Amino acid sequence: TTYRIAVIPGDGIGNEVIPPALKALDALGRRGGFSLAYDEFDWSCARYEATGAMMPPDGLDHIAGHDAILLGAVGSPGVPDHVSLWGLLIPIRRGFRQYVNLRPVKVVPGLPSPLRLSSPVDLVVVRENVEGEYSEIGGRLNRGFPEEMAVQEAVFTRAGVTRVVDYAFELARTRGGHVTSATKSNGIVHTMPFWDEVVRERAARFPGVGWRQEHIDALAAKLVLRPGDFDVIVGSNLFGDVLSDLAAAIAGGIGVAPAANLNPERRFPSMFEPVHGSAPDIAGKGVANPLGSLWSAAMMLDHLGEAEASAALRHAIEAVLAEGSVRTPDLGGTASTTEFADAVVAALPSP
Ligand code: NAI
Ligand code: MG
Repeated sequence: TTYRIAVIPGDGIGNEVIPPALKALDALGRRGGFSLAYDEFDWSCARYEATGAMMPPDGLDHIAGHDAILLGAVGSPGVPDHVSLWGLLIPIRRGFRQYVNLRPVKVVPGLPSPLRLSSPVDLVVVRENVEGEYSEIGGRLNRGFPEEMAVQEAVFTRAGVTRVVDYAFELARTRGGHVTSATKSNGIVHTMPFWDEVVRERAARFPGVGWRQEHIDALAAKLVLRPGDFDVIVGSNLFGDVLSDLAAAIAGGIGVAPAANLNPERRFPSMFEPVHGSAPDIAGKGVANPLGSLWSAAMMLDHLGEAEASAALRHAIEAVLAEGSVRTPDLGGTASTTEFADAVVAALPSP
């Protein structure tokens, strides 16, 4: 089998963490009897600065036929962040109906968690990825006047909430775990009670899966105090965004966290990307941690049906972390991006 992968390295350290992922994927393909054909796209803030657009107007058509998309990170100090988000990431997520944003968080030996953890942490944040609070509906009036105002509407649809909640319950069922739904129905009195209602209705279809709901503020506090109490956390676009960065920090920092933007029906390609951004403060120095990118590649292999190769990559990552002598500076070490990635490739099982 040959998988066609659309590769979008993006800006800054995106260009440094993607090559290690491709190297690991190629090594796994040689061992596992599959290959990957990469088509690289220069869509980025650099492209925006040169041409006025993050990607071509028919960009999605170029990658709609690929088996998956691997993205580094986009963002540049000279380009407002909403340009890169609304010019590339959101069009891909929405155009390809990637309504599940999946962010697994696992504390493994060798990752420095800032917390003293009393129990193991192995949780997944399921974030609604295409509607909710991140909407274009709203506007600003009376700019510069004392009566200036801004309004932004949140959009929750029955179909949109149902499918992401179902995904979360199904995931908890296969993990043998439970679901926590993030809400704020005490303060947000229309959309959040609606969210809660749909969660309750869908939960009834998964009688074997335990669940509870928590207000987002209390949930955030508990996530810091007792992260081991959580398994699958499902939340709206905004709540899921915030919780997944918080959870990533618990597990050793933003540089290690992977994410998948999934179209579970597989009508369109799904996109895999590290959670971190383009990190202009360390870009070009060769010290970016490629872990988030490598872990995202492992998620991509799972999605492609290469479960064995995915497990091999995860085990190699965990072995290098546990051994501990090769780490990038963000994890307290002195290794370069390439040195860490080479150590992971060397730790892959022999064919
Ligand atoms: P960031 O994630 O780029 O960096 C935050 C901090 O973490 C920095 O100190 C950085 O050096 C460090 N860091 C991040 N990834 C690392 C890695 N792999 N290894 C070692 N250290 C790492 O977030 P920031 O600074 O808020 O944003 C920078 C740019 O990235 C902005 O333009 C932003 O819009 C964009 N961004 C893009 C994302 C994406 O493409 N999905 C996600 C988040 C931010
Ligand atoms: Mg975020």
